[in-house]
Amino acid sequence: MKEIIRFLLSAGAALLLVAPSARAVDLERVKDIYGPCAACHGEFGQGGKKGEYPRIAGQQPKYMFQQLKNFQSQARINLPMYPFVKERDLPDEEMKLVSEWLASVVLPTKQPEFKETDDALTRLLAMEKVMIIPRAEGDIELGGQVYQKQCAACHGKTGLGRGMFPMLVGQYTNYLKRQIDAYLKSERAHDEEVMKEGVLFSLSEKDIQDVLAYLTSIQEVEK
Ligand code: HEC
Ligand code: HEC
Repeated sequence: MKEIIRFLLSAGAALLLVAPSARAVDLERVKDIYGPCAACHGEFGQGGKKGEYPRIAGQQPKYMFQQLKNFQSQARINLPMYPFVKERDLPDEEMKLVSEWLASVVLPTKQPEFKETDDALTRLLAMEKVMIIPRAEGDIELGGQVYQKQCAACHGKTGLGRGMFPMLVGQYTNYLKRQIDAYLKSERAHDEEVMKEGVLFSLSEKDIQDVLAYLTSIQEVEK
């Protein structure tokens, strides 16, 4: 009995020693992979230049992986990014790792509440992560009706997406608008099977603007 307990204790201690460093290596590796991406998408995947570079933190991991593959095959044209996604530079396994890590990065929509013991650096880092998209112009109520009827089935009632359906809420309005334009010009396929008759083609310009306004109004829903 004593032997068993001693064995369990030492095995437990060994696990404690191994587990954190194994995780640390993974995080280090993923940060290594993400290094070149940060120049455009920001340190936390928050994107930049008002949506020239989309936010990718908190985006759906399967969707991101598929987009990276699409950039690689040039099914979706992205000239600035193409050099970074070539097979040699970003094998599938690394695409998966970086997508999963990015998906796990939470960017709060509210100023955090601090404990008295939090030091200045902790506070600064937490504040830097706060991301709020400015209100887009448009009729929020009408936009909500269109969104819940025509978009929510895939992109989710709160706009967070799931699986292959991207998160739309918390994304730069300019970026979303640019993508909708790309779909309407058939530069990107929104819903392959229906193409020209897809849901986006049934909307007026005003509907689209209202939906974009609505999306900026529901950012504070609990994630
Ligand atoms: C030189 C700038 C640049 C670099 C470096 C870069 N990207 Fe991008 N990325 C972009 C731009 C620009 C877009 C948006 C293209 C568009 O408008 O269609 C984009 C789009 C994306 C998207 C699609 C987002 C969506 O919602 O569909 C993902 C995912 C992504 N990048 C991940 C990465 C990863 C991972 C890396 C590093 C391996 C990386 N990017 C490096 C510029 C860059
Ligand atoms: C039948 C499911 C479905 C419905 C309904 C739908 N979408 Fe999508 N949407 C998708 C899929 C799938 C993608 C990713 C397509 C791709 O790979 O480019 C997408 C992508 C997008 C993107 C690009 C996001 C990004 O990060 O690049 C925007 C913007 C968008 N949808 C807006 C809308 C709006 C607005 C509506 C409602 C009017 C809507 N969608 C309804 C399935 C749907």
